[in-house]
Amino acid sequence: MIMAERAVPSRVVAAERLASEAGFKKSCISEVGRLLRLAAAAKPHGVIAESGTGSGVGTAWLHSGLGAGARLVTVERDEELARRAAGLFTDDDRVSVLTGDWRLLEQHAPFDVFFCDGGGKRDDPEQVVELLAPGGLLILDDFTPSPHWPPHFGGEVDELRLFYLTHPALDATEVLTTPASSAVVAARRL
Ligand SMILES: C[S@@+](CC[C@H](N)C(=O)[O-])C[C@H]1O[C@@H](n2cnc3c(N)ncnc32)[C@H](O)[C@@H]1O
Repeated sequence: MIMAERAVPSRVVAAERLASEAGFKKSCISEVGRLLRLAAAAKPHGVIAESGTGSGVGTAWLHSGLGAGARLVTVERDEELARRAAGLFTDDDRVSVLTGDWRLLEQHAPFDVFFCDGGGKRDDPEQVVELLAPGGLLILDDFTPSPHWPPHFGGEVDELRLFYLTHPALDATEVLTTPASSAVVAARRL
């Protein structure tokens, strides 16, 4: 049977083209992108945040689920990438692409959705949780599925993943995004 290709939003296609032109290889995969779109769509009046814009692929997926009353703010420390990604969203004043360190996001918190993908995830996980609004959704991708509890990576307990999965302020779980990759998805308790 021939499976039809699933549609990819045109802005995602444009961001993927930009990534290819810039030689940027760390964009999120479409499976994660669909999760991002779902999360943004679940918060139609929310503040949606992303750390690590890259070339704007994740941003474009978030944008594809963005409600009319929502805002999307993303930050990238690489000036050239940030400038190029910002060019994809100049027609939509709900979107802000910031240039600099991820902590610039703090002035826009609390977040109803936070895709923490560049800055914060490893260097200040407690602050990542702190920036979530009550009921806010946190998405962290690029984990490797583990059959163990606590989860292992590289032969050792994955302390970072464990931190998010067991944080007392979060209801968190891990979902497969492909057979070989997973994401942590969490909601901040009220
Ligand atoms: C995995 S890539 C982002 C991919 C993008 N979110 C997507 O889904 O297509 C990580 C990005 O985070 C940026 N980054 C890393 N540390 C950062 C920090 N402390 N502040 C801002 N950006 C950071 C890197 O320059 C890189 O472009």
